[in-house]
Amino acid sequence: MSFNLQSSKKLFIFLGKSLFSLLEAMIFALLPKPRKNVAGEIVLITGAGSGLGRLLALQFARLGSVLVLWDINKEGNEETCKMAREAGATRVHAYTCDCSQKEGVYRVADQVKKEVGDVSILINNAGIVTGKKFLDCPDELMEKSFDVNFKAHLWTYKAFLPAMIANDHGHLVCISSSAGLSGVNGLADYCASKFAAFGFAESVFVETFVQKQKGIKTTIVCPFFIKTGMFEGCTTGCPSLLPILEPKYAVEKIVEAILQEKMYLYMPKLLYFMMFLKRQNAQTLSTVKICPVTAGHQKSRTYGARQHPPSDPNMTLHGRMTKKRQGE
Ligand SMILES: NC(=O)c1ccc[n+]([C@@H]2O[C@H](COP(=O)([O-])OP(=O)(O)OC[C@H]3O[C@@H](n4cnc5c(N)ncnc54)[C@H](O)[C@@H]3O)[C@@H](O)[C@H]2O)c1
Repeated sequence: MSFNLQSSKKLFIFLGKSLFSLLEAMIFALLPKPRKNVAGEIVLITGAGSGLGRLLALQFARLGSVLVLWDINKEGNEETCKMAREAGATRVHAYTCDCSQKEGVYRVADQVKKEVGDVSILINNAGIVTGKKFLDCPDELMEKSFDVNFKAHLWTYKAFLPAMIANDHGHLVCISSSAGLSGVNGLADYCASKFAAFGFAESVFVETFVQKQKGIKTTIVCPFFIKTGMFEGCTTGCPSLLPILEPKYAVEKIVEAILQEKMYLYMPKLLYFMMFLKRQNAQTLSTVKICPVTAGHQKSRTYGARQHPPSDPNMTLHGRMTKKRQGE
């Protein structure tokens, strides 16, 4: 009897909270949410040496944040550092860091804490793609995908979350992908690493929420393809509904979501509908036939020369990447 009462009470609380969230979402769909001020916040961006990471750095430079830029590619990172200063940043610190190496992450994180201070906005953005079908993909490349796209997030959280908890102030940003929401042909290891990053960020958010650490925010970003070169050669089967995104547009949306402390950002908006369909029936996604990677892959298009796996299996992925970058 008391069990029934307890479960009815829990059900009412759940329904009440769901209704509240729904109303909140409807209100904020009509009225823009206030934006927080990030001037003076210490913003760490991994993978700042190019693409989205570089553009994010420039946006936060304009917003008056203190920048901490990490990348495995020293040259690219220093170029971003220079551009950020030109964009108005007064405090920019570039560190060469291979995020796939736990010890390296901890070492550079300690250096940042000593030289700059406690990071209050952590953007886990560094990423790689192998672009091989599962059975063709060498084990070490799949492991590398996980190391960079997911495990690096564990180490950076371990390094910077404690201070955020102590200050009850911080923002954790996970750059996942639409490939972290739905499986994609030919991207099994990439998708799995992006699903993992999504699940990890969401779980830590729940942990902080349950522990009433309300000052710690989370934003999980799931974009479709963006013209940064990472997925060079991929085309969309449905450009009007599911366009390949412009980097500038994607970064503006990401920064807006961070400033509004939005938990999830999917781009383009059609992804929200696709995820709704997926929940109804996973088959629907393949019926909709807007899975452009399939087409790209069958025609053996490249997945960005920079991220192409080495032909020499002894050569590491990032080794090849760096070599290519230097020659760019
Ligand atoms: N471009 C897209 O279509 C797309 C779509 C969805 C999500 N994303 C995600 O967005 C993020 C940024 O991608 P991008 O398009 O700007 O690609 P990009 O290749 O231009 O940038 C990735 C950056 O990460 C750095 N990096 C790679 N391995 C690293 C390591 N071990 N340690 C430190 N830095 C490392 C690279 O040097 C590079 O500067 C990635 O996580 C990617 O998976 C990209």
